[in-house]
Amino acid sequence: MRSYLEATDFWGSASAEALASEFGTPLYVYNERIIRSNLKRLSGLITKYPYVTNYSIKANSNLYLLQIALEEGLSADAMSEGEMRLLLKAGFPPEKIFFVPNNVSADEMKFAVEHNIIVSLDSIDQLDLFGTINPGGKCSVRLNPGVGAGHHEKVVTAGKNTKFAITDDQLDEMFATAAKHDLRIVGINQHIGSLFMDPEPFLKSVVNLLEMAMKFDKLDFIDFGGGYGVPYHKVSEDEQPFDFDSFEKKFEALLDGFVEKAGYVPLFKTEPGRYAFCEGGVLLGRVHAVKTNADRKFAGTDIGMNVLARPTLYGSWHDVEIIHDNKVTTDDPEVITIVGNICESGDIIAKERLLPKITTGDLVCVLDAGAYGYAMASSYNVRRRPAEVLIQLDGTPKLIRRADTWEDLFRGFEI
Ligand code: LLP
Repeated sequence: MRSYLEATDFWGSASAEALASEFGTPLYVYNERIIRSNLKRLSGLITKYPYVTNYSIKANSNLYLLQIALEEGLSADAMSEGEMRLLLKAGFPPEKIFFVPNNVSADEMKFAVEHNIIVSLDSIDQLDLFGTINPGGKCSVRLNPGVGAGHHEKVVTAGKNTKFAITDDQLDEMFATAAKHDLRIVGINQHIGSLFMDPEPFLKSVVNLLEMAMKFDKLDFIDFGGGYGVPYHKVSEDEQPFDFDSFEKKFEALLDGFVEKAGYVPLFKTEPGRYAFCEGGVLLGRVHAVKTNADRKFAGTDIGMNVLARPTLYGSWHDVEIIHDNKVTTDDPEVITIVGNICESGDIIAKERLLPKITTGDLVCVLDAGAYGYAMASSYNVRRRPAEVLIQLDGTPKLIRRADTWEDLFRGFEI
């Protein structure tokens, strides 16, 4: 087992203990060097054609991290009015924002229209509603290419059994609805699901979407969605990263085929979320109790399911490293379950893992926590969401979001 934290010099000039004592635990810590390198990989994906990467900010919407994504040349997609507002606040111009909602009100659509943000509609009803508020306008439509993929059924968003998108057999009705409101469909988009390491389903969806694209008048853009996987088992099983180089070649070949057949070059886009920030984020927590119930050993930490929901919600695996006396330890491995401080038995961060011996006072580092970590945190059990710290390029830490205060939690009662 190789230490990711040591191999990447993750804490920069700080140390885990120094960060924990300055900012408290639990704490989300991000490494700017790792983040920028992953963002560069994404923004340079397709070089042969006009190409844009929309960072899908639902994965991590920290304002400062959004600004780094903007600096690295990424555009963004938003799922809600809140995400649009945050992107505008971060400095994204409207033309770099793509609103890809699902089941939203006319008011939420109006916000986009009034701010010149292009909207994608993902059902005939939503297209109809959009037509009533913006007749004669332009929009995109989200299509279901018939293939889905993802790490869990809850995050597969195309193929059968999904609430998302417009299917092939609905296209005639869709065109009729657009015509009724004189809407111009200038783009199509898809998102097949989240986290694939095998690119084949995605490539198949590209083929299908490009076939569907032939049924449209000349499109300004075609957006293939996100989903590129991250190796969550890189420390425990030496899992290899997503092979972008071979993926890029196959992807580009499909685009070549479309350009030749369609006779024009649209702007191509993808929409990754997880890949951008996942590996650049570590969640740091403190062990407050170690105990053995029946024959199961538990390490009780301050990382509750309210801080990181993924293991509880999807049974997701995150590699874990243990820090004892301010050093990564590999001593005396034993099987242990790491849990949080929430009053549910499902409040588990890492189940029955072979890990170095853990004692009270140690620090637990949950790897690959930069995506869908803080973004899905809550104040369940009236707990304050943690702070976020960025290890900057010069190695020094900077607070990029303070922890919730009690006042933050009680503000809603001031009525
Ligand atoms: N575009 C759309 C329309 C999406 O719905 C999503 C993710 C993305 C792009 C970005 O997908 P990514 O590259 O991050 O896989 N909470 C789950 C993941 C949910 C993803 C939802 N949609 C998790 O923690 O695994």
